[in-house]
Amino acid sequence: MIDLPILTEIKPETKGKKVLSQTTKVYIETYGCQMNTNDSEIVGGVLQSEGFQSTQKPEEADVILLNTCAIRENAEKKIYDRLNHLKYYKKRNSHLVVGLLGCMAERLRAQLLGEKNLVDIVVGPDEYRKVPQLIESALQGNRGIAIKLSKVETYDDIVPLRTEGISAWISIMRGCDKFCTYCVVPFTRGRERSRPMSSIVEEAKNLYDSGFKEITLLGQNVDSYLDTEHNHNFADLLRATAIAVPLMRIRYTTSHPQDMSDQVIETMAEFDNICKYIHLPFQAGSNRVLELMNRTYSIERYLNRIAKIRELMPNCALTTDIISGFPTETEEDHLETMRIVEQVRFDGAFMFKYSPRENTKAWKMGDDVSDEVKTRRLNEIITLQYEIARQINETTVGTIEHVLIEGPSKRNTEVWVGRTDSNKITFFNHEDIRGYVIGDIVPVRILRTTSTTLNAELV
Ligand code: SAH
Ligand code: SF4
Ligand code: F3S
Repeated sequence: MIDLPILTEIKPETKGKKVLSQTTKVYIETYGCQMNTNDSEIVGGVLQSEGFQSTQKPEEADVILLNTCAIRENAEKKIYDRLNHLKYYKKRNSHLVVGLLGCMAERLRAQLLGEKNLVDIVVGPDEYRKVPQLIESALQGNRGIAIKLSKVETYDDIVPLRTEGISAWISIMRGCDKFCTYCVVPFTRGRERSRPMSSIVEEAKNLYDSGFKEITLLGQNVDSYLDTEHNHNFADLLRATAIAVPLMRIRYTTSHPQDMSDQVIETMAEFDNICKYIHLPFQAGSNRVLELMNRTYSIERYLNRIAKIRELMPNCALTTDIISGFPTETEEDHLETMRIVEQVRFDGAFMFKYSPRENTKAWKMGDDVSDEVKTRRLNEIITLQYEIARQINETTVGTIEHVLIEGPSKRNTEVWVGRTDSNKITFFNHEDIRGYVIGDIVPVRILRTTSTTLNAELV
């Protein structure tokens, strides 16, 4: 699409400074979804192969990259706030290079260059191979931008630089062709394209060989995955992966209610190492609103997918996404959303106030539900959903679950954390741990629960 030329605005004080990538330390901070997390690892991989050093400490970095999200206005506000804060780093180190990557970079483009007199480089999701070159140029004082979207880029040959050794993200595809009317993703990430199945399976095997215990296959709509050369669909990919790494836990996200086939559900049910957890966004309970959202399914189709999942996997955990206050949403529409929450009984949900995004179709529909009403409706959904999740979790007290140990919790290192097969965060005392180590899958008995977490003892 549009490829702006690399701008060459020379900063006199750094002009001509020699760049040695080996001594240049890069810090990357990630916002947004798991695809961005994996993209930051891909950028890390690209930089490492060019000899750059990575650092976890922004204060010692020569280059600070923010991998941004544009999904809601709030996501972008966070980045502007963070940029304000980064001014202090720039004061201490006038040679510091600041870059914006990701979806907000793609959306706002050249507008972001020089933002807060700080941003030196802007790079969209399909241009990460150019990051080393843009950094080198920025260290010489040249601002730069690369935001062309690609129909083919999948970074298939790049080995992501992973910092954690237990659980890994694998992007199996990029972009999205669904064009839900509220969503920026088709514009910020471009057309949908899939990686070849063989290379994904190979990556899974390599991760297993290097000690990883769990992989999550990522795509905005994994159900439309297609290896065009061999005509392998997502169910084929799930099967091939489950067979290739039988001792690993396999997860995936995100499913789409229209495209999720019986074959995918059957494959999940067939393999023990595919975790019984599905994230299946429904967004709204009213068919009128679903149509305005261009979600391409009816609520009946959605409930039919839930019925099929429960028929084959009665214990499968389910989570969802819900948007409250979409343009023209009435009180009756809202009640239909509440009824679906009540009827399905989700284990968890991500619930959002509708946020209008410029240039999307929904943007042109106006934003006629007042913030007050949106907030009230959202709170009603949240209250109902939390109570349901609390009840569901309470029924697990006394049962045995299998938890993949992730390590000490952030708040209290005496308490360790892991996840059940159904993806529930589970805490247990480190004293219990006996011979087990991080990465082991251990049986635990559930002692206490909240609406979002479980407390357990090792058995
Ligand atoms: N591809 C996934 C999710 C993409 S974004 C899917 O289709 O389900 C994650 C969630 O953010 C969406 O499911 C939706 O609930 C929410 N979202 C996206 N755009 C939004 C907007 N403009 N306002 C509020 N929520 C939004
Ligand atoms: Fe956005 Fe819809 Fe694509 Fe999800 S499926 S990324 S909500 S356009
Ligand atoms: Fe955000 Fe882009 Fe992901 S907009 S949610 S980082 S695909």
